[in-house]
Amino acid sequence: MPRQSYVNGRYVPHASAAVHIEDRGYQFADGVYEVIAVAGGAIVDEGPHMERLFRSLAEMKMTAPASAASMHVILHEVMRRCRVRDGAVYLQISRGVAPRNHAWPADIKPAMVVTARPIAWPRNFAEVRAIEILAVPDQRWGRPDIKTVALLPNALARMQADAAGAADAWMVDEDGMVTEGTSANAWIVTEAGELITRQLSRAILAGVTRRAILEFAGANMLAITERAFSLEEAKAAREAFQTSTTALVKPIKKIDETVIGDGQPGPVTAKVFEAYLAYLTSFGGGN
Ligand SMILES: Cc1ncc(COP(=O)(O)O)c(C=O)c1O
Repeated sequence: MPRQSYVNGRYVPHASAAVHIEDRGYQFADGVYEVIAVAGGAIVDEGPHMERLFRSLAEMKMTAPASAASMHVILHEVMRRCRVRDGAVYLQISRGVAPRNHAWPADIKPAMVVTARPIAWPRNFAEVRAIEILAVPDQRWGRPDIKTVALLPNALARMQADAAGAADAWMVDEDGMVTEGTSANAWIVTEAGELITRQLSRAILAGVTRRAILEFAGANMLAITERAFSLEEAKAAREAFQTSTTALVKPIKKIDETVIGDGQPGPVTAKVFEAYLAYLTSFGGGN
């Protein structure tokens, strides 16, 4: 079966899946999305993803085109049709189609698309390569806590990192404090072995991976403080890493020209990775 995607009530061949040119997602970046991991045929952290999606919709004054229960059925059907047992599902809801005008009509119908793709999850920390980070100014709008498809500043920062030979960029606010990666939350480990990640606010996305790590911190004897940290503090940290649904827990060996710790993935990052991988694989029954 060729790859299929969901578009507004239909399952269609991925290659010809399309929305209208006057969809506001296309013209105004007027839409929200979620990227959700699939492990062993199971959807990982579906509840927190749905909770964040419905919050994003509410903040955008959009109505959900389907209930969370219907979305569950659609996600599974796309996974089945694409034969994805390990991978990610992408769900996007845009405000819908209307003649181009900044104001939208009251009766506009939201558009929903779902795609799935396979990912081979790493089996252990030894398979994970540390990455380099470029620090850039955070040039996003005032609400990065809403997961909108308006990702142009993130994409530009990511390409700037690429041109500098780095794998990602960490965005830095006007006070010199790190906000987050272009598609990941930022973490450092202090000399005392304490984990630091920025507290939730309108400045960052409430990552679902971040949330899971905070939840199982106690059981894994990890000391975590949620507070902002400066780029300077990050460069002087013993370890640094970033977290996201598709990249899990990624060790960082260099920020700009500064080598982090001894330039090797550190023991605290390893512990977080192992705990997160165990959590991820537990959804599919541990296979
Ligand atoms: C800007 C940004 N921050 C953080 C994250 C990490 O969030 P999650 O762990 O839910 O994937 C993402 C994920 O796409 C993101 O785009």
